[in-house]
Amino acid sequence: MRLSRLFHAPIAAFHDCISPKCDGCINLANRDNSGLDIPINALEAVYKPGGAESEHSARMSRADFWALAGVVGVQVGIETANEDYGADIDDAPIIFRGGRKDCATSPHTTEVYKLPDPHMGSAATFKYFEDTFNFTPYETVALMGGHTLGAATQSILGFNGTWTGPTRSLFQFDGTYHHILLVHDYGWNVTNLGTEEDPRYQWHCTDLAKPETENRDCGFMLDTDISMLVDLTVDDKGKPTCEFFTLAERTCSLNRTNFKQMIKYDSSFTEDSENNFVTDFSASFTKVINRI
Ligand code: HEM
Repeated sequence: MRLSRLFHAPIAAFHDCISPKCDGCINLANRDNSGLDIPINALEAVYKPGGAESEHSARMSRADFWALAGVVGVQVGIETANEDYGADIDDAPIIFRGGRKDCATSPHTTEVYKLPDPHMGSAATFKYFEDTFNFTPYETVALMGGHTLGAATQSILGFNGTWTGPTRSLFQFDGTYHHILLVHDYGWNVTNLGTEEDPRYQWHCTDLAKPETENRDCGFMLDTDISMLVDLTVDDKGKPTCEFFTLAERTCSLNRTNFKQMIKYDSSFTEDSENNFVTDFSASFTKVINRI
């Protein structure tokens, strides 16, 4: 597995640890796990190549291996940001402990756990993380910066785009996710990429500072991402019931506590923002992956 492809690993580690304990088992029949066959198969090719034992499988459970791969995925993302994009971010202070036990049918399972619904508004999103990981809103806002990595692919879950804009590397881990939510000149429009019966609402970003003749695409967000900044309300289909066109033009109220937190992660406002973000993300991610 090329190291850069490890940007998929944090999502696999996150989904594996949504069960009460991280257990090296993911139910691919659960729609919200769609696409996870890609990181699972890539990790399996190293963990048990062709089904044979390896030095990794001899030493640790699959759940340990996935969690460790998630940590390495973040670290490789930081190295990419530093070496290829001129950032100066310290190593992620994620603490990894071994000792996770795999479920009997690892790497697959038919057990159903409640995965986060991308159509949740703010109250439901923060409640989900409180119920699942005993997280405070602060820990949730930091963790959601995981979406600085990777992209959504329409053929997988119906959403499409990169959270941090189409011109960025998918492998780069830094504070850009929170920065994008705070940019004054970014306009956000909701589009439904699904159908009326099975909607896929997402927020499309337009860089209003650029002339209309140029490509103004600055990425996309899910309801659950927009929920980090404003008190987003949605109807029972996930369609937003308040608007957030720009920070100045919005009918959703700003969450001032989260806003202050996100300013700490944004290089336009705060010196050493990248390290602030990586430190807080690492504390949250440590809690997620160490459910043993
Ligand atoms: C409310 C919580 C969350 C929701 C609703 C959510 C939803 C999604 C969705 C819909 C995708 C696109 C899937 C695809 O098209 O392949 C995605 C991708 C991704 N998510 Fe999340 N996510 C959440 C939290 C997290 C967290 C906490 C992390 C990491 C710590 C994370 C890491 C990722 C990564 C790295 C990808 C990109 C995968 C790739 O490019 O293959 N997500 N997420």
